[in-house]
Amino acid sequence: MINIGIIGLGYWGPNYLRIFSQLDGCRVGAASDKDGKRLEAFSKTYPSVRLFSDFRKMMEDEILDGVVIATPTTTHFAVAKEVLAKGCHVLLEKPLAMTERECKSLCDIAAKNKKILMVGHTFLYNSCVNWIQNFVNAGHAGKVYYLHAQRTNLGPIRHDVGAMMDLAPHDISMFLHILGKEPVKVSAEGSAFLTNSREDVAFLHLEFKDGTMAHVHVSWLEPRKVRQLTVIGDKKMIVFDDVNMSEPVRIFDKGVTRTKEYRTFGEFQMILRDGDIVIPKIRLSEPLKDQCSAFLSAVQSGKTPVSDGRFGLKVVRVLEAARKSLQTGGKAVRLA
Ligand SMILES: NC(=O)c1ccc[n+]([C@@H]2O[C@H](COP(=O)([O-])OP(=O)(O)OC[C@H]3O[C@@H](n4cnc5c(N)ncnc54)[C@H](O)[C@@H]3O)[C@@H](O)[C@H]2O)c1
Repeated sequence: MINIGIIGLGYWGPNYLRIFSQLDGCRVGAASDKDGKRLEAFSKTYPSVRLFSDFRKMMEDEILDGVVIATPTTTHFAVAKEVLAKGCHVLLEKPLAMTERECKSLCDIAAKNKKILMVGHTFLYNSCVNWIQNFVNAGHAGKVYYLHAQRTNLGPIRHDVGAMMDLAPHDISMFLHILGKEPVKVSAEGSAFLTNSREDVAFLHLEFKDGTMAHVHVSWLEPRKVRQLTVIGDKKMIVFDDVNMSEPVRIFDKGVTRTKEYRTFGEFQMILRDGDIVIPKIRLSEPLKDQCSAFLSAVQSGKTPVSDGRFGLKVVRVLEAARKSLQTGGKAVRLA
């Protein structure tokens, strides 16, 4: 029985409390939030969970195997560092930390203590995203020209990080996961309309060595909730609409075919292919639940999870480059 502790019971943390309380092979022994009012809300519904306002006290009083950290992004590094040093496996919310350097430090502490460090990149446990990844890797989409994503809504507005750091980790994680490679160039433009300090909207552009491009638009200042990813391949085009529960993935047999043989330039043609649209049947499950199960499996087996610390570091490397670019008005930043 794996004993789980949870740090942070704000908006997202209670989902972990619910899921780990339901999964086999584990129990939630304790949870902590520095806001006492948040704790009151859970004392009646989860009477067997010991509640603490100080996570250090929680770790002293309860022997925990794994700790979930769902505190604000700016606190990830400091909290995770302490928890890993105490010898616990860690499941930390995205993004892993604020800088690549902090991420590397967390990966090193986890490796030194032989502990699992997993990042809550939920989309890597989303059956639609994994279906698309398999489809692309099997070559069914052909050569991927570009991907673009949109993650926009009105709010929620955060006070510790901007919209880019908050929302783009999801899309960057999908890009890296589906393509299986890292970009060599990143640029970003955006604006802080509401606060003057943290961007409310950002447009990120990623370029890969082989010419593939990826683009994401994030904003918490939009009228509609859009969660969309489009993959443009030379054989097939794929659209993943995460708010369409009945038909989340569509495969378009659309593209452009160049005529192979031509004697004069005048005979050279581009034939537009406008074929079927297929909606694949994908078994849908709760991605966060699958992510939590993956954490338990990693703790039990010692095997590295898909969204381990190194993967989380790759996402933050892109975010850090995007932040630098944003500060210089969109100047491209090259990655080694
Ligand atoms: N994967 C997803 O889809 C998803 C969705 C939402 C949020 N998140 C992530 O979850 C994390 C938390 O987001 P949220 O929306 O729940 O934020 P939130 O501000 O609503 O909640 C954070 C909670 O952490 C508590 N806290 C802060 N420092 C603490 C400490 N040292 N010890 C104990 N408690 C502490 C706060 O009191 C607060 O209740 C963020 O990293 C965010 O990026 C992920």
